[in-house]
Amino acid sequence: MPEPSPIRFLFRGQPVAVPADTPTRTVLQWLREDRQACGTKEGCAEGDCGACTVLVAELAEQVPDGTQAVLSHGLAVRPVNACIRFLPTLHGKALLTVEDLAGPGPTPTALHPAQQALVDCHGAQCGFCTPGFVMTLAAVHEAHQARQDLHPAATPPGRAALADALSGNLCRCTGYRPILDAAQQMLGQTGPRLPLASLRDQLLALQAEPAVEIAGQVHLPRDLATLARLRAERPRARLVAGATDVGLWITKQMRELGELIFLGDVAELRRIETGSDALRIGAAVTLEDAWATLTRHWPSLHEMHRRFAGPPVRHAGTLVGNLANGSPIGDGAPVLIALGARLVLRHGEAQRTLPLRDFYLDYMKNALEPGEFVEAVEVPFQTRDTGWITQAHKISKRSDCDISAVSAGFALRLAGDTVAEARLAYGGLAATVRRAAGAEAALVGQPWTEATLRAAQTALASDFNPLTDLRASADYRRHTAAALLERLWLSTRPVDPVPVEQLRVDLRAPV
Ligand SMILES: Cc1cc2nc3c(=O)[nH]c(=O)nc-3n(C[C@H](O)[C@H](O)[C@H](O)COP(=O)(O)OP(=O)(O)OC[C@H]3O[C@@H](n4cnc5c(N)ncnc54)[C@H](O)[C@@H]3O)c2cc1C
Ligand code: FES
Ligand code: FES
Repeated sequence: MPEPSPIRFLFRGQPVAVPADTPTRTVLQWLREDRQACGTKEGCAEGDCGACTVLVAELAEQVPDGTQAVLSHGLAVRPVNACIRFLPTLHGKALLTVEDLAGPGPTPTALHPAQQALVDCHGAQCGFCTPGFVMTLAAVHEAHQARQDLHPAATPPGRAALADALSGNLCRCTGYRPILDAAQQMLGQTGPRLPLASLRDQLLALQAEPAVEIAGQVHLPRDLATLARLRAERPRARLVAGATDVGLWITKQMRELGELIFLGDVAELRRIETGSDALRIGAAVTLEDAWATLTRHWPSLHEMHRRFAGPPVRHAGTLVGNLANGSPIGDGAPVLIALGARLVLRHGEAQRTLPLRDFYLDYMKNALEPGEFVEAVEVPFQTRDTGWITQAHKISKRSDCDISAVSAGFALRLAGDTVAEARLAYGGLAATVRRAAGAEAALVGQPWTEATLRAAQTALASDFNPLTDLRASADYRRHTAAALLERLWLSTRPVDPVPVEQLRVDLRAPV
């Protein structure tokens, strides 16, 4: 038997080879325990606090407009949470940590602008969160520099955009004002930049390395045919995309996952394709890239993009993973069901297409057959140009980076003042995300009036029988679902519509 090939990636600017025999070892464990690289901290071990933020750079030709991913020197650079990132997923990539940022030498004299600005603006007290903030800010700095390299007059992101970029990083002591001051100050400063040009050349050399494969344990296929064959042959192996769900099964539940098939490196699954009638988002496309692209076609989804997890989670997790996990409180399914999305499912060579609404059979139970997987999600272009009104609403206790109590996606098509078509999908109200059949029936064919809204709200009360749990009571969920329908009415009524953002009570206070 040939020796299994190790995982190879760049660390401290040098190639390293690590045996792939512990596939669920996290990047954070490897850094702190194996390399004594303790600048990267562990706070929550579940992707919530950002203390463990590192940057992962990989070869890329483009990143979609509107994402927070940086494309610089032919590399996509993304902040991710090292605590829930499995080490094998670094194969063929470069890992950058807080120790990589300052200028060269054993006692560097020049701090990275992100570090210097945090010092100048008193942006750290205990300092525990600081390496994570530094890494996110370094990505923001690199993105701005890369934009300025192309367009010297490019304006820097404002305070609100910086707050969004930092929404995956928590600080318990300093407060966010000085950190945001530092973020703004940093953008005007030059200093050591990420060593991307040299990393690119080394990554090109690493590309020739074979894909990692240890039968019975771990597979990292690079093409769709290999993935499809592996999946068909090993129906019990666990698929792992971004591991933003699966990672927590290890760090919080200490589960043994058995054989793993990672799909993040499958080239065909990393594509977003614009067809004549639909957008096709591959199963390895990150949440960040997927939401940025969806928002370009459906601008009303901007708020959902902004509030879906924080950037380090969005740069690792995938939209298809979010749909496949079947969570009744996931934020992707309601809006994509409302948009009429369909899943492309694959088993070996065979493909079938299933409306997303038919994918969820029961609590965490879906329509996948053994050996089958989701190849892509297709979203038909039912946009404003074709007469559709689309809305997505997320109701959670905290505005940023929180799990929804109720999540809703609405798509409505009016013919004159009559409701021609309506799709109302809710999460958080039942064992699966599903459409409100009674409320839809009360709308379709009716004039779009307040009386029709009231009839739909009455019908909605019989569509769902929600539960009380830690996040919300059954009553709260029922009332919120009806109130969201009211938002739809108020913001789209034929006379005197109210802009949807004026109907929100959770708008962020200025910082
Ligand atoms: C801090 C934090 C904040 C979060 N915030 C939100 C939020 O605001 N809203 C929200 O909805 N979610 C949120 N999530 C959940 C999570 O980010 C999403 O569910 C994510 O999209 C899952 O995608 P993934 O690629 O990481 O999936 P993974 O963790 O890799 O996989 C999830 C499940 O899907 C299966 N799977 C993955 N890909 C496929 C495929 N192609 N075919 C078949 N099965 C597949 C896996 O086997 C596994 O069962 C959050 C998570 C964290 C850690
Ligand atoms: S340790 Fe909190 S996000 Fe990783
Ligand atoms: S400085 Fe202490 S947690 Fe941020």
